[in-house]
Amino acid sequence: MNQTATTSNIEIRPACIDDLAAIFHLGEELFRAEAVSNLYRTWDEYAVTSQFNSEPEFMLVANAEEKLVGFIIGSLIEKAGTAWNYAHLIWLGVHPDLAGLGVGSSLFDEFRSLVRKHEIRMMLVDTQADNEAAIRFFQSKGFTNPIDHIYMTLNMDNS
Ligand SMILES: CC(C)(COP(=O)(O)OP(=O)(O)OC[C@H]1O[C@@H](n2cnc3c(N)ncnc32)[C@H](O)[C@@H]1OP(=O)(O)O)[C@@H](O)C(=O)NCCC(=O)NCCS
Repeated sequence: MNQTATTSNIEIRPACIDDLAAIFHLGEELFRAEAVSNLYRTWDEYAVTSQFNSEPEFMLVANAEEKLVGFIIGSLIEKAGTAWNYAHLIWLGVHPDLAGLGVGSSLFDEFRSLVRKHEIRMMLVDTQADNEAAIRFFQSKGFTNPIDHIYMTLNMDNS
């Protein structure tokens, strides 16, 4: 990976079908089981293809020199009976070689502009409690009010 990329030569655009394999493989590097061992969501082909099938407009990629270096995947949640619609930022990933260069920020800003057009009142995001880079990132983008939740497992072999 060429490390001379800067935000000025990063292109943010909607994902297309040809991007799906590259998104999946970058996610495999970033969301390895040992790195996100207590994240209730799992990264697999389905995470990418199902979102692309259902809400392709909320899947964006960042390209540098025609190579995929980041992605953001989100979804809208309509709450029946209320005027409150939510956006869920499900997955955000940036190639480690380009960390700290503003790629994540550019992806997020574009995603926020997109969901704003849908009268979204609140955006939700979740990550592991020990994912400090992500937590600092989300705080830098204005996310507040972190709420703890307990994640438990039941070993089915022993029950
Ligand atoms: C979290 C992640 C998307 C950030 O992407 P990035 O392109 O490196 O972030 P940016 O360069 O746009 O940083 C924007 C701000 O976030 C904060 N930030 C980003 N990375 C940080 C880190 N490692 N430590 C502390 N703060 C960090 C900073 O406030 C930064 O602003 P600054 O550069 O002015 O200090 C990236 O680290 C990543 O892909 N992590 C692995 C996947 C993941 O955990 N995704 C989130 C949950 S789905």
